[in-house]
Amino acid sequence: MGEPLVSRGRFVTLEGIDGSGKSTQADLLAAALNDAGTPVVRAREPGGTPLGEAVRGILLGDQAPVSDASEVLLFAAARAQLVGDVIAPALASGSWVVCDRFLDSSLAYQGGGRGIGIDVVAQVNTLAVGENMPDVTVLLRIDPESAAVRRAGADDRIEAEGIALQRRVAAAYDQIAAAEPNRVRGVDADRPEAEVHAEILGIVGGLT
Ligand code: TMP
Repeated sequence: MGEPLVSRGRFVTLEGIDGSGKSTQADLLAAALNDAGTPVVRAREPGGTPLGEAVRGILLGDQAPVSDASEVLLFAAARAQLVGDVIAPALASGSWVVCDRFLDSSLAYQGGGRGIGIDVVAQVNTLAVGENMPDVTVLLRIDPESAAVRRAGADDRIEAEGIALQRRVAAAYDQIAAAEPNRVRGVDADRPEAEVHAEILGIVGGLT
């Protein structure tokens, strides 16, 4: 086997509780990379593929009951499809990937929030993620009360469960960040968007 012709792109994920401003920051980051001439694919979870968007409808809508175990497996199925169809090919072609939520969302929401256990959820997800772990994960930290005030629009099925779930999720994110300090970088998200963006650029700049 020879050397690959192009070097692998970088994989950046943004994580945080609902209302932490991830999607806005993912957009700002992808635009900044693009402006700097870096090829970048912007993705989101669950979603990003026809299967993923269908699973998103099941998971976040309220048409059908979803058990905790089904929830873990459905998020993992959407992730497997996104990794296979979008993330791995983009990275292999030298493009960067900025993804709004990834594995850590399942570890925090299902592992911590639902109480299934971070290790169990990680194990299930090995099939979906394989070697495609993020190079860096930005964890947007915000108090669950402030995040609830900032959330726009109607609550989805998970948001509708209220603040206690968001608190457990925030605690699980902190646990993950403490276990993997080199990959997971916490940022105070309860600040003006431009300040948060500048800090994220500084973190991501370290990857180039
Ligand atoms: P969002 O697109 O607004 O971030 O909504 C996704 C919701 O799904 C959010 O409440 C977090 C939740 N979620 C999980 O519980 N587990 C997961 O693995 C992912 C990707 C999202």
